[in-house]
Amino acid sequence: MTLTASRSVDLLVGAQTRWGSIPASTEHEVYQFGWLRDGSWCAYALDVAGHHEQAGAWHRWVARTLLDHSARFDQACEAVRHGAVTGAVMMPARFTLDGHEEEPSADDEEEWPNFQTDCYGFWLWALADHVNRGGLLDDTLTAAADLVIRYLLVAGQTPCFDCWEENPGNVHTSSLAAVAAGLRDAGRMLGYDSAIAAADQITARVTGPEHTLGGAFIRFPGDTRVDGSLLWLAVPFGLVEVTDPTFVNTVTRIQQELVVPGGGVRRYLGDTFYGGSEWILLAASLGWVQTQRGDTATGAAMLDWIEAAATVDGMLPEQAQDHVQSPYMLQFWRAKWGQTATPLLWSHAMHVVLNDVCRSGSA
Ligand code: BGC
Repeated sequence: MTLTASRSVDLLVGAQTRWGSIPASTEHEVYQFGWLRDGSWCAYALDVAGHHEQAGAWHRWVARTLLDHSARFDQACEAVRHGAVTGAVMMPARFTLDGHEEEPSADDEEEWPNFQTDCYGFWLWALADHVNRGGLLDDTLTAAADLVIRYLLVAGQTPCFDCWEENPGNVHTSSLAAVAAGLRDAGRMLGYDSAIAAADQITARVTGPEHTLGGAFIRFPGDTRVDGSLLWLAVPFGLVEVTDPTFVNTVTRIQQELVVPGGGVRRYLGDTFYGGSEWILLAASLGWVQTQRGDTATGAAMLDWIEAAATVDGMLPEQAQDHVQSPYMLQFWRAKWGQTATPLLWSHAMHVVLNDVCRSGSA
């Protein structure tokens, strides 16, 4: 079966539960949760594809879930104010598909990193985009967005895990970018000057000396490597233009260091998760960036590569397995969690987005 955009849309629509949540993967056993980051991209892709009702249902699932946990937001803000941040007290990256937090582990140790501020920035960004495309902003969505804005104003620059659920205790460039974009867009949507001002301050921080080295963005202060998630600074977040010299230098570095010739895009050098090969969703991000820079050939090449990476059933994995950085770690993760997550709904979302970008020049 050849993978088409409508097949990817069907998988997204089919994955949505009766509560409105969308699991990271319908098949991969350990991915049976609704992540705010993955889901934001899925809802965005559903909006791009004209499935506004399904996108709205996902946003309402998030809003109801967060409002049910409003006391947790207060606790998390208190923890930041009192310098008592722990993974367990901060707001989680994912919820069960019926909108609950996972049971804490018996030994009270955080087994799977959950404190990732970017998730909440991603949600505000996707919600504002949904509303801009005509989605109804009802009282539930407004109340939940209000809660999240207040959370991010307090906690949005707190060291945490990155978007790959790694590197705890750092202030990650792409996480700050998500927080800035979310505060900016939701602040405009609700007319909150404090959120817009905070977004401006965080954008200045992201584009300042702490998060750059020699004229290119870096993963986080203290790690001079480049990361595929830095592509999001321009699209979708729009903190910088695709023509911005620092962004252009970053893309050049990504092309030199993370793009596999004739293939996709790795997350970062030294990635060992499932061996550290190329990620479908990052290939789509690079294709989007390059199309916006006028390099439509790279956009088309990334789309072709993504479609060729689909299984015979037209399903996209989380990452390819053909150019691993560590064969040993590929075996390690297969033994631990089974085959790579397939289908990964975020991969399908990015396939839909890139397909639209290649057709129209923008998503
Ligand atoms: C990725 C996260 C993602 C999660 C669920 C992890 O392996 O690093 O970015 O949110 O999987 O798909």
